[in-house]
Amino acid sequence: MTAEPDPHRQTWPDIVPGPLGTPPPEFARRRAEGPLDPAAMPSGDLVPVAVRYEDVRTLLGSAASSRNLRLPGLPRLVSGMGIDDDPDALINQDPPEHTRYRRIMHAAFTPRRTEPWRPRIARIAGELLDELGEEFDLVAAFAVRLPGQVVCRLLGVPHADYDRFVTWTDMFLTTSTATGQARHRAYTEFMAYAADLVARHRARPGDDLIDLLVQARDDEDRLTEGELVNTVFSLITAGHETTASMVSRGAFRLMLHRAQWEELVARPDLAAGAAEEILRYDGPPASAFMRRMTKDVEVSCGTLPAGSVVLPNLNAANHDPSAFPDPERFDIHRFGAQPPHPHLAFGYGPHRCLAAALARVELTEAVRALAVKRPTLRLAVPAEAVEWSDGLTYRPVALPVTSAAPGS
Ligand code: HEM
Repeated sequence: MTAEPDPHRQTWPDIVPGPLGTPPPEFARRRAEGPLDPAAMPSGDLVPVAVRYEDVRTLLGSAASSRNLRLPGLPRLVSGMGIDDDPDALINQDPPEHTRYRRIMHAAFTPRRTEPWRPRIARIAGELLDELGEEFDLVAAFAVRLPGQVVCRLLGVPHADYDRFVTWTDMFLTTSTATGQARHRAYTEFMAYAADLVARHRARPGDDLIDLLVQARDDEDRLTEGELVNTVFSLITAGHETTASMVSRGAFRLMLHRAQWEELVARPDLAAGAAEEILRYDGPPASAFMRRMTKDVEVSCGTLPAGSVVLPNLNAANHDPSAFPDPERFDIHRFGAQPPHPHLAFGYGPHRCLAAALARVELTEAVRALAVKRPTLRLAVPAEAVEWSDGLTYRPVALPVTSAAPGS
């Protein structure tokens, strides 16, 4: 449980983004001169940060990278309890536990399983936009609502419980301003609700995500009751803020590149390629999590000794000119809709985002719905006036937009 104290108020003191949410200018210097220079974590602890594309891949793919940061004396991402402390979370497990848990869950998240959800997700995105007037806050009214609604429908949360469910999930967001006490209460209520939800699905199986997870098995192995309930919680916390950030940041970026926006409006089939460039350019909003080396690991500038802890920075890797020519140019044609998509927005290696296929569908359908439903969309305030969150993730706090005809 990661309720107290609230880590969301902590920031990255040494890694300051550039103007208009562009990547920290500091990354270019680090890649050239100090590819493992330490930086202060939000906790204040100093940790080497990997910023080169090849190094980040090496570290995330290495069998010597452990996610067990629960040993005494190790640096902390945040002060107080944080995500690294929960031994039951998938992201904190090492093989063989991680391999087993992930193999079972993976069955529910393959592209083949995810694709049938596309029309439902597209409908949710469309309905959310249909309910809004000409002027709205794209973050609160769309980017945050979309993943909440999607996860409710995928998990088969009954319509009557939507509001309660969304209130709880909003509380778990890193940017929520709820107190630790309120979060703890929400967590307890939510876990009881999730246990009941799982029991109801067991009694009356359907084809929701929970049903898939209940059925998902690896040979004779399957998720226990406790793991299932925990999984429901993990999926919400892992998938909500990340997606909300990507939709907010992506929409902001598209508004700044008017010609590319007009192209998308004329050709909504470009949405999938645009989503990939948004993921590369603007994602992920937070870094990958820290890794502890269990053996010496060779990287481009030397050896990371066994026992050291390092932070692989995905955003820096995604702007490495050795991997992406002219990386600071935002270009929705950089990647096609089809792989390969060599960016590291979903990480790399054993902990690569479990739900990357689902996240891709959400982001693509969000972009497509905006282009189709709101072709005249633009910022309602100067881009420089947009306020950015200062928590662990980084996205516009609000994005006032308008789709009123210009001059009206
Ligand atoms: C655009 C949105 C998303 C982005 C950019 C994103 C990014 C990531 C990244 C970078 C990691 C690996 C972190 C590391 O290795 O330190 C990760 C892991 C994970 N993500 Fe996502 N994610 C997104 C959406 C989602 C969604 C929608 C879900 C679930 C519904 C989800 C579930 C997970 C889970 C369970 C893990 C842990 C996997 C493991 O440890 O094996 N993510 N995500």
